[in-house]
Amino acid sequence: MNESVLKTIGVAFFVCLVCSLIVSTSAVSLRDQQKENKLNDRRIKVLEVAGIEIKPDQTVAEQFSKLEQKFVNFDTGLLMDEYKNFDIDEYDQLMSTKDSNLSSSVPQNEDIAIIKNRENVGKIFILRDNLGNIDKLVLPIRGYGLWGTLYGYIAIKGDFNTVTGITYYEHKETPGLGAEVDNDDWKDSWVGKKIYQNDEVALTVIKGKVASDDPSKIYKVDGLSGATITGRGVSNMIAYWFGNSGYSKLLQELDYES
Ligand SMILES: Cc1cc2nc3c(=O)[nH]c(=O)nc-3n(C[C@H](O)[C@H](O)[C@H](O)COP(=O)(O)O)c2cc1C
Repeated sequence: MNESVLKTIGVAFFVCLVCSLIVSTSAVSLRDQQKENKLNDRRIKVLEVAGIEIKPDQTVAEQFSKLEQKFVNFDTGLLMDEYKNFDIDEYDQLMSTKDSNLSSSVPQNEDIAIIKNRENVGKIFILRDNLGNIDKLVLPIRGYGLWGTLYGYIAIKGDFNTVTGITYYEHKETPGLGAEVDNDDWKDSWVGKKIYQNDEVALTVIKGKVASDDPSKIYKVDGLSGATITGRGVSNMIAYWFGNSGYSKLLQELDYES
């Protein structure tokens, strides 16, 4: 009677039960670890773009503590230590864009980066020098490329105008074409470029190469070959995030204070 149908179903049920218990227990127990890994992934990107060398003998969290994190109110340009009940370490401004109490929809004629909703409050990272002055700021940026939104960070000097680094942590652009936004040489070509000229955003990714004798070359970055649309997306996100709805009020405030 060892081969009865009931017994077969019973064994199958038991195996399923054990497996589902193993899967659900590991999913639950690894959730915190996954959250920490994702957070560390972003922290590494922020450290890299800030030009902080990542040391293998220290935890990411320890090294990240060299940076100050602040909330920024985009409407006033003011920095804040507190925002509602959010823990700044865990505050995810992209989640805020999904909540109409925490974000506002960008009018279509102003939505050059095609972000649709902009969070009311963002999060930025500050690196200070030994005297306590702002050495660098790391600012999150995002905008539409050809296939989807590119998410990244740009680092600027304490003059609030000179780029010291740019990086993307997520995008859907084509490898070898738009995905060349990850190319180190291209990213290096941003270093030293200026964002504003006479208080207007001037920095753009051009089509083709920037001529060495171009008097405006400080405001221009080489295009990515075969990826004009991605390049335009990057230019648009620079224009949006350094414009009035983005960080320009904050940068004016900081410039005024320094
Ligand atoms: C399969 C495929 C993938 C492409 N991926 C990109 C991309 O990631 N970014 C981009 O700007 N253009 C991409 N393009 C090219 C665009 O369709 C368009 O032709 C291009 O942006 C024009 O740029 P160019 O003037 O530099 O050639 C892709 C084209 C094909 C056929």
